[in-house]
This record gives sequence, C-alpha cells and structure tokens, in this order.
Amino acid sequence: EDPAPYHEEVSDPRRRDFINIAAVAWIGVGGAAVVLPLINQMNPSADVLAQATTEIDLSKIAVGQAIKTSFRKQPLFVRNLTPAEIAAADAVPLSELRDPQSLAERTKEGKKNWLITMGVCTHLGCVPLGAGEGENRGPFGGYFCPCHGSAYDTAARIRKGPAPTNLHVPDYTFSSDTTVTVG
Ligand code: FES
Repeated sequence: EDPAPYHEEVSDPRRRDFINIAAVAWIGVGGAAVVLPLINQMNPSADVLAQATTEIDLSKIAVGQAIKTSFRKQPLFVRNLTPAEIAAADAVPLSELRDPQSLAERTKEGKKNWLITMGVCTHLGCVPLGAGEGENRGPFGGYFCPCHGSAYDTAARIRKGPAPTNLHVPDYTFSSDTTVTVG
C-alpha cells in the first residue's frame, strides 16, 4: 500500500551523477563563453600593446610633485620640476655624467619642467623611489633605486650606483598645455 517514492528516479545515484556532471559542464561552457573574451580584452597582444598610448592630465601634478602611472604596462614617472631642480640639473657639466645628456635634451618642446621617464631602473629593472609622496629621492634629489642603491638626479640621469644609463625617456607630445600623450 506504500505509495511509490516519487523521487525514485532522481535518487538513482547514476542518474543523479549524470545530472550533476551535465550541470557543471553546462556552467563551465557558459562560463568560458562569458569569461574568455574578457580575459582576451585584458591581455592585448604585443602589437596592440606596442601601439597603446597613455594620456596624462598635467593639471593634477603640482610643482615639485611627481606621480607614478603606467605606460604599456610599465611604470612611468611624470614630474613637475621646481625652478631650483631645473637649475641643479643645468649646473652639472655633461663631462661629469656617465650617460651625458642635458635636461633640455631629456625634455620636449622647451618645457624643461616636465620630466617624463620610465620608472624602471636601468640596472636590473627595479622601480626606483621618488615619485610617491615623501619617498626617498636619494642624494641627487631625483630618484633612488632601493635594490642596489642607484641614484638619479633631478633630470633622472644616473649619478651613482650600478645603473649604466639614465632613466629612459619615452616618446611623448603635449596635446594641450595640460595634457601629454605618451607613446
Ligand atoms: Fe636598481 Fe639594481 S635594479 S640599482
């Protein structure tokens, strides 16, 4: 007289496993369909990356301040030099420099106060300090690499320590008085 258990079929362990596996597989396929294009968007190909530009709003960087941002997935430093820092850079004879370049050569369009360099130490690639609030700018007042002690001056030229060359200056143009496009 017992009524047949209504869940008999589903409680069959093989059938239940099949339902579970089918559900997981369906979610997996659906999930991949949604997630893969997103992952692709987040990982542009090398070609796309090589063409990427970065726009920087200079109005947000006070005189004497530097910011750390990024360009083609690498750290980028943008610094608004004070008149004293410009004078300090200009006062160094090129013959004293390991990688001789004047501040005028390292900046563009006669705007010597805007120093834009990659934030990658030319020794072994650490990110130097000096672009963040209160960070150690080292003995030459520019940037200081904490990895092995390379010190850069206010034109981001190497002055002391193992780094062989100045911080790299990427291509950039001023698209307005307050905007620069890097790349
Ligand atoms: Fe900067 Fe070595 S990586 S001093």
